[in-house]
Amino acid sequence: MNIQYPGYFLSFEGIDGAGKSTHIEAFGELLKQQHPNREVVMTREPGGTPLGEQLRKLLLDAPMNLETEALLMFAARREHIAQVIEPALQAGKIVISDRFTDASFAYQGGGRGLSLEKLNALEMWVQGRTDGVLLQPNLTILFDLPGAIAEARRSQVRAPDKFEQMDLDFFERVRQEYLRRAKADPKRFHLVDATQTREAIWEELKSLPLEI
Ligand code: TMP
Repeated sequence: MNIQYPGYFLSFEGIDGAGKSTHIEAFGELLKQQHPNREVVMTREPGGTPLGEQLRKLLLDAPMNLETEALLMFAARREHIAQVIEPALQAGKIVISDRFTDASFAYQGGGRGLSLEKLNALEMWVQGRTDGVLLQPNLTILFDLPGAIAEARRSQVRAPDKFEQMDLDFFERVRQEYLRRAKADPKRFHLVDATQTREAIWEELKSLPLEI
């Protein structure tokens, strides 16, 4: 149960190649089985709405100024919250999002160097409710992997997008910002050591104590 809504909000995070996409669908199916009376909404960022998916294409392909990139990420997020996340949580549904705001702090902040002050202001604007409470996931599952291992894994799959083309130093900075945020909010984050085998990670995910 979400302290603000009857629903439950989960996000999956990690640097590109850390393996979150391997598990997210199966995790959604598991929750559907465990909670047959609850609807499970699978979504993603950037994206999750028709407008958000158009913004995703631009964000992943087009070169742009860093602040433009951050503003578009949060614009897509605002639409996502208004059209999908908030109505679903209000209706008591379980929402699983492949990335949420931690990705902006990690990529645009840690990776590209946008100030924390600006990111905090955007977060407050986009996720702040009229009662002053910030909409946040109940639980964020962070797949943590050294940048070099993630890079090797990425090279085995599809053609890289704009972010996936970034160098190792970039991904190490992204990773460190994710870890910093996880340490600052241990109640919300569950850290997965993504160097483990796929089977071991799945066992860990299956036994997570969720307060749904
Ligand atoms: P995906 O490959 O996990 O679908 O994510 C798309 C890319 O967008 C990924 O490289 C991370 C990046 N991204 C940001 O830079 N900032 C954000 O706020 C989000 C949600 C994603």
